[in-house]
Amino acid sequence: MARRMRTLRDLDVTERRVLVRVDYNVPLENGQVADDTRIRATVETIRWLLDRRARIILCTHLGRPKGQVREELRLAPVAAALSTVLGQSVRYVRDIVGPEAQEMARRLQPGEVGLLENLRFDPREEQNDPEFAAALASLAECYVNDAFGAAHRAHASVVGVAKLLPSAAGFLMEREVAALERVLHSTERPFVLVLGGAKVSDKIGVIENLLPRADALLLGGGMANTFLRAQGFEVGRSLVEEDKVEEARRLFALAAKHGVRVELPVDVVVAPSLSAVDARQIIRVAEMPADQAIYDIGPETVRHFAAVIATAQLLVWNGPMGVYEVPEFREGTRGVAEAVAACPGFTLVGGGDSVAALKELGLADRVDHLSTGGGATLEYLEGRELPGVAVLMEGGE
Ligand code: 3PG
Repeated sequence: MARRMRTLRDLDVTERRVLVRVDYNVPLENGQVADDTRIRATVETIRWLLDRRARIILCTHLGRPKGQVREELRLAPVAAALSTVLGQSVRYVRDIVGPEAQEMARRLQPGEVGLLENLRFDPREEQNDPEFAAALASLAECYVNDAFGAAHRAHASVVGVAKLLPSAAGFLMEREVAALERVLHSTERPFVLVLGGAKVSDKIGVIENLLPRADALLLGGGMANTFLRAQGFEVGRSLVEEDKVEEARRLFALAAKHGVRVELPVDVVVAPSLSAVDARQIIRVAEMPADQAIYDIGPETVRHFAAVIATAQLLVWNGPMGVYEVPEFREGTRGVAEAVAACPGFTLVGGGDSVAALKELGLADRVDHLSTGGGATLEYLEGRELPGVAVLMEGGE
C-alpha cells in the first residue's frame, strides 16, 4: 500500500466532539472484563485526544448479538474497566444513536469521555446502513478509527461513518498497519512463518500469500495433522480436515517450488481423549497409535522449531501449537513462545492463544508487535485490503 493513511496528526480535534471507533470486543467473565488488553491498547489515542481537550465519544461492538439487544452484552463492564484504565469516569449510555446518546454527546465537556451502547444491538451496523452511519456521524465533528480488530468488517461504524466526517486512524491502527506492512514488504531474511491453531482452512490464504517470500514454514497445532496426513502419516483419532488433505499437498508443492523449508512435528503429545490427560504420552509421529489423538507438539519438535526461530530476521507467529486451554497440552506453545521472545529479528505475533502464552510467561514485551486483531490480522497477512483501512487512505478508498 503506497498510499498514505490519514492519522490523528492530520485532524484538528481541539475541544471538538470526536467519535472514536474502538474494538473493545473483550472477554467477559462473571460480568467483568477478563482481559483488558484491547482497552489498554487504545489509551495512547484517548490520552492524545484528552490532551487536546476533545470531547470523546467511544463506540464498539461486543460479541455477535445479531441486531438484538442482549443484556449480557451490554457495555457497562467495559465502561467500568475503561474508567479504571483511564483513571477518570466514563459516561456510558444504554443507547447508540437515539435521544440518550444525542443528549450525552451534546452535554459532553472538553476532556470528557462517553461510551455508546454495543453497536451490534442495531442490525443497521452490520448492514452498513447509510442512515445509521449518518446518525452516528451526527454525534460528532470528526471520526477516528482505532479498531484495527474490526477493520475487516465493512460496517457502518467502520466504513460508513468514515466517509461522512473528517476521519483518521488512531495510534493503535497506525501501529498495527505499520507492523503488518513491514511483514508484507520487508526484505529482511530469513523470514520464518510459524502457524498453528485448529484449522488449515483459516490459514491457507496466509500461507499462499507469504510462502513466496518465506524461508521456513513451521506447522503445529491441530492444522499440522492434516499436513502429516498429506505426507502419509497415520494420525489416529486426531482432528483432521479430510477435505483439506489435497490442499495441504498443493501447499507442500508450492513450498518446494519456492524453496521453503517446511517443518512438521517429529514428536507429539497424545492421549486417548482430551480429558484423559493422565494417560498422555510423548511419541514419535511415525509411531502414532490408532486409538489416540494428538494434542500438542513434543519437546524434540520444540527444539527443532526453536533452532529455526533463532535464525529469523523476520518472524510471524499465529496460532497455538496444541490445545492451549488444557494446561497439560500447553508446553509446545510455551516452548515456541520462549523461542519467539528470544528471536533476534522483527517478530509479529497474532491470535488469542499465542498472545496469551506470551503474556502468561511474562514475555509479551519481548515481541516487537503483538497484534490485537484476530480475523483482521489474518486477512491483512493474506494480502487483502481491509475496508476499514482503505477508507482512511488519503484521497478516500
Ligand atoms: C475480533 O474479535 O476479532 C473482532 O472484534 C471482530 O469480531 P467479529 O469477528 O465478531 O466481527
